[in-house]
Amino acid sequence: MVGFTDDEIRAVYRAIYARRDIRRFRDEPIPEETLERVIDAAHHAPSVGFSQPWDFVVVRDPETKAEIEAIASRAIDAARAAYEQPRRSQFGRLKLEGIEDAPVNVCVTCDPTRGEPHVLGRNSMRRTDVYSTCLAVQNLWLAARAEGIGVGWVSFLYPSEVREVLDIPPHVKPVAYLCVGYPESFPEEPILQTEGWRDRLELDDLVHLEGWEGSRGVDEGDQRA
Ligand SMILES: Cc1cc2nc3c(=O)[nH]c(=O)nc-3n(C[C@H](O)[C@H](O)[C@H](O)COP(=O)(O)O)c2cc1C
Repeated sequence: MVGFTDDEIRAVYRAIYARRDIRRFRDEPIPEETLERVIDAAHHAPSVGFSQPWDFVVVRDPETKAEIEAIASRAIDAARAAYEQPRRSQFGRLKLEGIEDAPVNVCVTCDPTRGEPHVLGRNSMRRTDVYSTCLAVQNLWLAARAEGIGVGWVSFLYPSEVREVLDIPPHVKPVAYLCVGYPESFPEEPILQTEGWRDRLELDDLVHLEGWEGSRGVDEGDQRA
């Protein structure tokens, strides 16, 4: 069958809208086969020239997590210092990572040499290898949500230090460091929105019809009315 049933369509949108960045996890292991399914979903993402530039470093060892957490802690302190009050205090109240709480961490990397010398479609857009890796992350995130598993992306890290802790080869880029586990809850809206940090933008302000200077909005009919 080519099309999806109505229930399947609804399920896809449900996973998209109900996905959240999660930073608080329950102390409950993820079954091995569930983790495999979720990582296999990531491996089925689109990639430039079908290069599949990703690798997945799965971390469960508390000592390794503690080393990564120490890097995050320094990066968060450095970021906090750059804010003026009252934003600095508001930043300080945010929980920005769940590295040690999550039963599993997954570092998704990008190997820019995969598929070389000629990666179809990458000549004029070099960074499409990283874009492809981000799509793998999104697949993983959505599949995890459907499985009732939360994912939190931690970018308060120094990639060269993560590379060293995880023995990642020098030419491979750590792109996403993910905390993965059963969440305390899936919030209805982004935590940053609930905490008053930032609101979702209006879609109509972001859609440009026929060119950047064109009228705005998804529905052209509305614009002409
Ligand atoms: C590339 C990227 C990096 C992120 N880094 C962090 C992070 O270091 N700490 C954090 O708390 N959230 C991080 N997030 C999560 C975002 O804050 C979150 O996606 C956004 O607030 C929207 O919320 P939602 O994912 O629940 O819809 C990151 C998300 C992305 C896509």
